[in-house]
Amino acid sequence: MKIAILPGDGIGTEIVAEAVKVLQVLDLKLETETALVGGAAYEAHGHPLPDSTLQLARQADAILFGAVGDWKYDKLDRPLRPEQAILGLRKHLGLFANFRPAICHEQLVDASSLKPELIAGLDILIIRELTGDIYFGQPRGRRTATDGHFPGSEEAFDTMRYSRPEVERIAHVAFQAARKRNKRVTSVDKANVLETFQFWKDVVTDVAREYPDVALDHMYVDNAAMQLVRAPKKFDVIVTGNMFGDILSDEAAMLTGSIGMLPSASLNARNQGLYEPSHGSAPDIAGKGIANPLATILSAAMMLRFSLNQPEAADHIETAVRAVLAQGLRTADIAGPGTIPVGTVAMGDAVAAALRQALH
Ligand code: IPM
Ligand code: MG
Repeated sequence: MKIAILPGDGIGTEIVAEAVKVLQVLDLKLETETALVGGAAYEAHGHPLPDSTLQLARQADAILFGAVGDWKYDKLDRPLRPEQAILGLRKHLGLFANFRPAICHEQLVDASSLKPELIAGLDILIIRELTGDIYFGQPRGRRTATDGHFPGSEEAFDTMRYSRPEVERIAHVAFQAARKRNKRVTSVDKANVLETFQFWKDVVTDVAREYPDVALDHMYVDNAAMQLVRAPKKFDVIVTGNMFGDILSDEAAMLTGSIGMLPSASLNARNQGLYEPSHGSAPDIAGKGIANPLATILSAAMMLRFSLNQPEAADHIETAVRAVLAQGLRTADIAGPGTIPVGTVAMGDAVAAALRQALH
């Protein structure tokens, strides 16, 4: 089993190191190879996604990804910005299905900004389409300095588009995921205003006929944003496009206490996957040793389950994370009264120790 390790920028290197530490506790034959990506790759090779990194990712069974981006690259031409590395990986590898579970761990109920009764027991799954929509419509790929913004002109544009096969395949992913859960799918759109999302809604409705055992409802994105903070437990699986999914998944992350807790998986049709925390590179806290590595450690668990066919190892990691939270250990983002403050490395060490215990 070959894993490409792409730590990236900011806190990426710190949190990925802890996830690798945890993986090493498992008695699995994992072959790892590390490469630069994002701003770090731009500094070394002049491009955020060098060919060598892309090749490594292509050949791997799975990719463990940290985060990319830093304000200091904001002035670069768009094709050279760190964010293009993750967008390029998603596109080149066809990673169209993004799973972003939002689970509220019992011990973290008080870390959320919402009332405990709203989020205790929360377990929802956002499925975000990841290779279409306005993220990849025209004018991407145009050979101008800045996509869609023609220097000296007074307008800029991006185009939103989805094709039937693109919507069908993500809808199938959502219905199949719902079958293993509470059998409800909410498709989030903006069909009242946008043609693209009227089309989305029609295609999802067509696909739903193949899943009579799953209940489907439709919700406008503005309403969904509101319902997520009003009564988040009413959702089971949310399926939506790339842009709305980006926004709603950040919102859902905060329901769980901290965006530092949320893992994600991005899969292609061959179940090859890229695994990354839902949060970003957090340049403001990079290098301070205070970032929460749990989202990345939980992403490694998703990797074992989805791409490497090691569901038991995945369960063990998740159990170890719960054990450490039960011990009261907390990084700054999830700290609360009566808890034990720890940094990034100590948190990783504690999960590794709990895992070792679970295995023996
Ligand atoms: C995410 C991030 C990315 C996105 C950025 C870094 C390009 O916000 O994975 O949610 O917008 O998809
Ligand atoms: Mg985002």
